[in-house]
Amino acid sequence: MPASSSSPSPLLLALREGTRDCHKSLEARLPFFQAHFDAAAYSRLLQAYYGFHAPLEARLGDYQEPVRAKTPALTLDLQALHLSAADIDALPLCQALPAIKDEASALGVMYVMEGSTLGGQVLKKAMSERLGLDPVSGTGFLDVYGARTGNYWRSFLDRLGQASTAPAAQAATVQAAIETFQCFERWLGQRNVLNQKPG
Ligand code: HEM
Repeated sequence: MPASSSSPSPLLLALREGTRDCHKSLEARLPFFQAHFDAAAYSRLLQAYYGFHAPLEARLGDYQEPVRAKTPALTLDLQALHLSAADIDALPLCQALPAIKDEASALGVMYVMEGSTLGGQVLKKAMSERLGLDPVSGTGFLDVYGARTGNYWRSFLDRLGQASTAPAAQAATVQAAIETFQCFERWLGQRNVLNQKPG
């Protein structure tokens, strides 16, 4: 459980409320649990993840502590899945990224990226069962913090708890989180790695 020992901050509650539908929509379209999902499809999906995470993480710059970098784990996974350094360098990168202009918007982007490490625990286990992969052979990104996942999440929640309580700043954080989900889903759709939109 990601629950912090203290009660959730109003900002965390607003982020959860504001992105609940985004998470549902993306989760429903991600193919991890599709019947025909195989190692080749997993590699294509991770390549598309790379195209979003690498440029977004670069833009987060100093807002994100270096220990939270996830692009190195994605790179290692792609190498384990037999992409060369040149293949990885040539991957298309998303240009339509959420705007990061201050601490408030950076926190919204980070909420989505950090929160995905929680779902990553479920996905790591599923990819181990379905594809026989482990963090060395291809699920390093899904398990980027390993046994420290809960600690990293709680320390991010502490940072959220110290954020400005000004309504405009809180609204900017929620807006940035929504945009992050939307940009990511749009990008993955463009890369043709998602299930069709339902109905
Ligand atoms: C099939 C894919 C996914 C599954 C099965 C999944 C599953 C989950 C689960 C089970 C949690 C709650 C974890 C807990 O309470 O311990 C969670 C939280 C979260 N996930 Fe996902 N997830 C998926 C994809 C994603 C993606 C791709 C993102 C973002 C890019 C994301 C962002 C988040 C966020 C922000 C939270 C934190 C919610 C909160 O506690 O405030 N998830 N996910």
